Amino acid sequence: MIRRDDHLLARGEAAFLDDITVPAGCLFGVPVPSPVAAGEIVRLEIGAAAAAHDVVGVFTAADVPGENQIGAIIPDEPLFAEREVDCVGQCVALVVARSAEAARAAVKLVDLEIREREPVLDPRVAHGRGMLIAQQRTVALGDVDAALAASAVVVEGRCDTGGQEHVYLETQGALATPTERGGVHLRSSTQSPSGVQRIVARVLGVPMHDVEVEVLRLGGGFGGKEDQATTYAAMAAVAAVRLARPVKVVLRRGEDMRLTGKRHPYSADFRLGLDAGGAMTAYDVMFYQSSGAAADLSTAILERTLLHATGSYFVPNVRATAAPCRTNLPPNTAFRGFGGPQAMFVMEAAIAAAARKMGVSPRAIQERNLIEDGRRFPYGMEARGIRARRCFAAVCEEHRVDELRRRIDEHNDSHRETKRGLALMPVCFGISFTNTMLNQASALVHVYVDGSVGVSTGAVEMGQGVRSKLRAVAARALGVALDAVKVEGTSTARTANVSPTAASTGADMNGQAVRMAAEAIRARLAPFAAERPGASFPEIAAAAHAARVSLSAHAHYATPDIHFDREVGRGAPFAYHVCGTAIAEVTLDCLRGTYRIDAVRIVHDAGQSLDPAIDLGQVEGGLVQGLGWLLLEELLWNDKGRLLTDSLTTYKVPDLDFAPREIAVRFLEADENRFGPYSSKAIGEPPLMYGIAAYFALVDAIRAVRPDARVGTSTPLTPEKVLMALAGRDQTR
Ligand code: MTE
Ligand code: HPA
Ligand code: MOS
Repeated sequence: MIRRDDHLLARGEAAFLDDITVPAGCLFGVPVPSPVAAGEIVRLEIGAAAAAHDVVGVFTAADVPGENQIGAIIPDEPLFAEREVDCVGQCVALVVARSAEAARAAVKLVDLEIREREPVLDPRVAHGRGMLIAQQRTVALGDVDAALAASAVVVEGRCDTGGQEHVYLETQGALATPTERGGVHLRSSTQSPSGVQRIVARVLGVPMHDVEVEVLRLGGGFGGKEDQATTYAAMAAVAAVRLARPVKVVLRRGEDMRLTGKRHPYSADFRLGLDAGGAMTAYDVMFYQSSGAAADLSTAILERTLLHATGSYFVPNVRATAAPCRTNLPPNTAFRGFGGPQAMFVMEAAIAAAARKMGVSPRAIQERNLIEDGRRFPYGMEARGIRARRCFAAVCEEHRVDELRRRIDEHNDSHRETKRGLALMPVCFGISFTNTMLNQASALVHVYVDGSVGVSTGAVEMGQGVRSKLRAVAARALGVALDAVKVEGTSTARTANVSPTAASTGADMNGQAVRMAAEAIRARLAPFAAERPGASFPEIAAAAHAARVSLSAHAHYATPDIHFDREVGRGAPFAYHVCGTAIAEVTLDCLRGTYRIDAVRIVHDAGQSLDPAIDLGQVEGGLVQGLGWLLLEELLWNDKGRLLTDSLTTYKVPDLDFAPREIAVRFLEADENRFGPYSSKAIGEPPLMYGIAAYFALVDAIRAVRPDARVGTSTPLTPEKVLMALAGRDQTR
């Protein structure tokens, strides 16, 4: 299937926010960021900037008509700093001018004096000082202390996982046009149109119906626009309303990298107990999340970390605790996997440590402990329809993993300059927002009298292909050709109170709503079709309309049978789990520390795919993004909390040369899935965690050189760190 947008995108004709022809008289806003990570504002003089050439206005906290507050879950984040600044990049003002160039020039004229404090950058230090965003939480099952005491083998250690910059190709931005009665129309590059609408209404002090948010498509979001697009939409809205002129704010790459939050860095301590046969008996883990300077989505992300603490495995006794630690960094935020990858990495590091201690392969421990139907997750949910073992067995068999292992060992015995490594990664990822309330979607379907169809939902297209999938669902439910269906851009005036397109649920939930609405129309058309054998769809639609039968339908879908009690950490928060397993092979250059990812082979359960080409793209893209997080992408801050890697020359992202030489993906035979339209399954996030296979394959290769190398517990494992490990230096932090 060819995505409807593909030709437009390939020819550069698809419009993104910055391509939209701006309305007459449009002005341009540029934020004024704090250069200091922590301190008290002692002087903020905007006079010189306001008087600069082509500048029309400079706005600060005092200019906000409603509340100067953009925190969506916890109200702890001012739009513009008032007395304190808590991270580099926190905005103190917005300069608005006739051109973005003039605004940027005037930013330098803002006179800002801050009495600096020593910033806290390490989440463990923040935790020690009681600097928490919210209370720490625990999810527990069984009796961990007793089980650890009785375990034949116990391994313990510390893990540190790095953050990750989203590098969506389209940076953050918004275009605000004032409307009647102090309202505003917004074009926003957001995953959460209703989230932007709600917060902008709060900031302007107007009802939500006076804020309309429209989204055509995003040049990537990856979680980075689930919450943080709001900031720039709110700034543009404030200026637009104040000046009664359209205002556009679009960040440059460097600004975007410095100002916005990233994947949360985590530090963790673990203890894993096993019996003599390699069955896990107990797991005790403590996560320190570097939340950044404000809550943003940190508490929700922390929740998913806890729910994925045991990865794809069954452990009868678990205690997982996690603390959201306030650090002086831009608020960290959603990023593909949403706290799950950080948890799964720790579990795999623990398994690797146990395997070494027991003298067995990590694969043996992985395989022994995979979760099966009837077992329970630590939060009490019973495993149902879990295909972890199916995928693991299939990938091992199809790619003859024993033979692969033998060949790699032979290579390593006979080569000194290069060593090869192998590792597996089973993924089992919970589908649904962990906040049950968010698991709802609605759709509005119109059939026009010529038989063409328009579909509106809250889903935001960000490259993941949700529009194509919704089109396929509508066409199938109505029994029309794909070409008859158009999926509209997202607008809060057409679809209200929508959840963000996130948690991999976009196609699932919006697809179900589209199916319901389309089926309702089809049922109304059925009598007209029955009376007109051989009539075309347009003829049937016109006949129904002539008889004054509605050709439009709205439907609302709420994911059934899910619940979660946050207070006690128990429930069935997920509709289902998506499973798969990857095998990675790498070759290490022992002299240089450089490496090549030879192959990643995956068996993945995508259900009855709505579009196999899109799903293949999601698996490949997710994998490579995961590889970047684990191996390549290194965020460095100086001790003053300033990001040093704030451009794509210093922050290395995966390219074609880095990508695996071979990526083989096989989709498992589909089974039933009542939660996805036509038994499809969510696919957006789970593949990212396949990257963990390559990380441990690399550790395996390093150990072939130096069995005692101190590696395997911190990310990213860059070539530089590999070289140091080969030289016998400690690379565990
Ligand atoms: N794929 C592309 N090309 N661009 C993106 O921004 N975001 C990912 C994933 N795949 C993303 C992507 C994330 S973080 C999520 S949650 C899902 O897509 C969201 O879309 P879906 O729910 O429709 O799968
Ligand atoms: N996943 C992704 N995004 C979210 C979630 C979640 O569970 N909850 C709130 N936003
Ligand atoms: Mo995805 S991190 O849930 O936007």
